[in-house]
Amino acid sequence: MAQICSQSTTITTTTTMFIPKPPPPLCTFLTIILLCILSFYTLHYPSSSSSSSSTIQRVAHFRQMFVTLSTNSTIATYLRALTLHPHLAGTKPSLETAHYVRTHFKDQGLNTHTVKYQTLLSYPTYASLSAYFSNGTRLDLPLNEVGRRSFNRKSGGDIGEDVVQPYHAYSPSGSAYSKAVFVNYGKDEDYRVLGVLGVNVSGCIVVVRKSEFLPRSEVVSKAGAHGAVAVLLYAEEEMKRFRKGFERGTVMKGLGDPLSPGWAAGVDGAERLDLEDSEVLNRFPKIPSMPLSAEAADIILGSLGGPVAPPEWKGNLKSMVSRVGPGPTVVNFTYQVGS
Ligand SMILES: *[C@@H]1O[C@H](CO)[C@@H](O)[C@H](O)[C@H]1NC(C)=O
Ligand SMILES: *[C@@H]1O[C@H](CO)[C@@H](O)[C@H](O)[C@H]1NC(C)=O
Ligand SMILES: *[C@@H]1O[C@H](CO)[C@@H](O)[C@H](O)[C@H]1NC(C)=O
Ligand SMILES: *[C@@H]1O[C@H](CO)[C@@H](O)[C@H](O)[C@H]1NC(C)=O
Repeated sequence: MAQICSQSTTITTTTTMFIPKPPPPLCTFLTIILLCILSFYTLHYPSSSSSSSSTIQRVAHFRQMFVTLSTNSTIATYLRALTLHPHLAGTKPSLETAHYVRTHFKDQGLNTHTVKYQTLLSYPTYASLSAYFSNGTRLDLPLNEVGRRSFNRKSGGDIGEDVVQPYHAYSPSGSAYSKAVFVNYGKDEDYRVLGVLGVNVSGCIVVVRKSEFLPRSEVVSKAGAHGAVAVLLYAEEEMKRFRKGFERGTVMKGLGDPLSPGWAAGVDGAERLDLEDSEVLNRFPKIPSMPLSAEAADIILGSLGGPVAPPEWKGNLKSMVSRVGPGPTVVNFTYQVGS
């Protein structure tokens, strides 16, 4: 007999679209250095000589130029400065990064030019995640890296305080209270295997391990198509100290600004699609998702009952997974996107 999450009486799910009323506060000015490369190009590589050279040669040329213009220690200094703090798009640190790059290009005598883009971005405002185990205990699962301060202290800087809360950009807001089920990588064949085992994920919160074959957007859309109400996605991690880490990323289909697919976002009053446009909506997932640390995933997966997981689902990383569920562990999931 199929085990179905939605038969449980404990389930409540609500999912609201990511869309706030337009014009959304999610829209934010994103300043990006543009034409730096072009400046480089004009200054050091006149167009007359470029027509016959291949792209590969040009790349090699610019690489060589970059390396000879700077010493190893200045390149190391740049890299250190650029990676010292998170600079999420649309935030102040992102603007400061742009200024840093512009200043250094100018110091090299390059013509630089900055352009303001208006793009639709998504930021988290609230998230909570807890697990209810069959032994009657409840556990609030970590939603951010813990111990990152002591970890960062080694590298000497006062860093880590501004670490971006783990989230999936463009996930809709939503909440779900339902049984957890393990769906391996969340590929079609994984759901087929579950079907053979008599597991129907409809109404469940699926726990998925990230693979390199399936983008996050596909993982979430396949889970939604199989009736799942929310997705928890974790990246396998072998090294113990990284198992508390989260993989942040987008769940939107395609690249760039969703409101200006294929053209420059919001520059000089350029046309932008409406948030309600089907072309826009089709790029956003229908069900909410959040990243999970490998450690937290293990706690949930190790507590599942139901059919035994196929051996290849256990991975090679000492995963605790032994059964696929659904349940008896119930997960309380809430994610709220900025508004
Ligand atoms: C800079 O680093 C590269 C790569 O490690 C090395 O090949 C090169 O010799 C270094 N140059 C100097 C001047 O130290
Ligand atoms: C899974 O359960 C849902 C809800 O009960 C049902 O609509 C769907 O047909 C089931 N899927 C399969 C493959 O049995
Ligand atoms: C209850 O079960 C969870 C998951 O298996 C486990 O982590 C926890 O230690 C258990 N608590 C008690 C009091 O047995
Ligand atoms: C689930 O979590 C939400 C948000 O933290 C909370 O308001 C709600 O009471 C929880 N539900 C249950 C059944 O624990």
